[in-house]
Amino acid sequence: MTRIGLFTSGGDAPGMNAAIRAVVRAAVRDGVEVFGIRDGYTGLLRSDLHPMNHRSVSNTLQYGGTMLGTSRCPAFHQPETRARAAEVLREHKIDGLIAIGGDGTFRGARYLEEEQGVRIVGIPGTIDNDLYGTDYTIGFDTAINTALDAIDRIRDTAHSLERIHFIEVMGRQAGFIALEVGLAGGAEEIIVPEMPTDVQAICDNIRRGQEMGKHAFIIIVAEGGETGGAFPLAKRISSLVNIEHRVTVLGHIQRGGKPSARDRVLASRLGVAAVNAFLDGQSGVMVGEIGRQITYTPLEETWTRVKAAPIEDLRLSELLST
Ligand code: F6P
Repeated sequence: MTRIGLFTSGGDAPGMNAAIRAVVRAAVRDGVEVFGIRDGYTGLLRSDLHPMNHRSVSNTLQYGGTMLGTSRCPAFHQPETRARAAEVLREHKIDGLIAIGGDGTFRGARYLEEEQGVRIVGIPGTIDNDLYGTDYTIGFDTAINTALDAIDRIRDTAHSLERIHFIEVMGRQAGFIALEVGLAGGAEEIIVPEMPTDVQAICDNIRRGQEMGKHAFIIIVAEGGETGGAFPLAKRISSLVNIEHRVTVLGHIQRGGKPSARDRVLASRLGVAAVNAFLDGQSGVMVGEIGRQITYTPLEETWTRVKAAPIEDLRLSELLST
């Protein structure tokens, strides 16, 4: 009987539980045994593997976080650590792995496959949406809706006082979250790592806005990039235009909460696709969805090739927020 190990790794993302459920149920349907690995690569190294069945995933798909736990495991950058992981898999007679996570997870998986011959299929799970090979990653839709809800609330208070509100969103080195919530939330400016930040132009826009009768400004700042986050940028801009400001860092709020319908559906499709891909003999690939078609992308391409954020939305946002 085929036996697979299943784990989540890196930053958790809403919808990971729906993906775990889909993998377990599809695997059981096909007569495959599933061992859940606790806490990602860290749990694998301490041999923390447990059999899962239909019932282990009952009543889980509506919850955020990950029922398997997760971790960031710097030790996994070392080849000898990966050799130890392969040994644990052999001890448990595991034929291959299904890994749910982002680029860090897939880097570890790729090297484990290359060096130790461990078969691996990846499922994209990260709120950042920054993986090449899929239109959306699991967790992104929920995260942008959570952030948007917060931005709408801030706008209520922003409209009551003359201030600039700087709102920092997650996304590490990618502007996907910032662009989406900036456009959807009617932000006056969106700062993303993909584009240089022209402080003078932002100040000019604010002054022009004031002349047109605006008195509330919302600036969305992606956490990565040259600005160093919302705080330093806010200080600079606010002193140049001489308007009071407030900064809100949405932080890990964006990672939590009930997964949206879109994330649950995507997770369900990709979970089943991952099991099918594994049983078809595929390995070293990430399953994704592009234009509603299931796709298979070599793990390495998921981080070496660039998925372009929709930078053209900056113009749209500028036009609409005047
Ligand atoms: O990769 C997902 C992510 O949420 C990023 O957007 C963010 O930069 C990072 O994780 C935060 O990581 P941690 O939870 O380890 O602080």
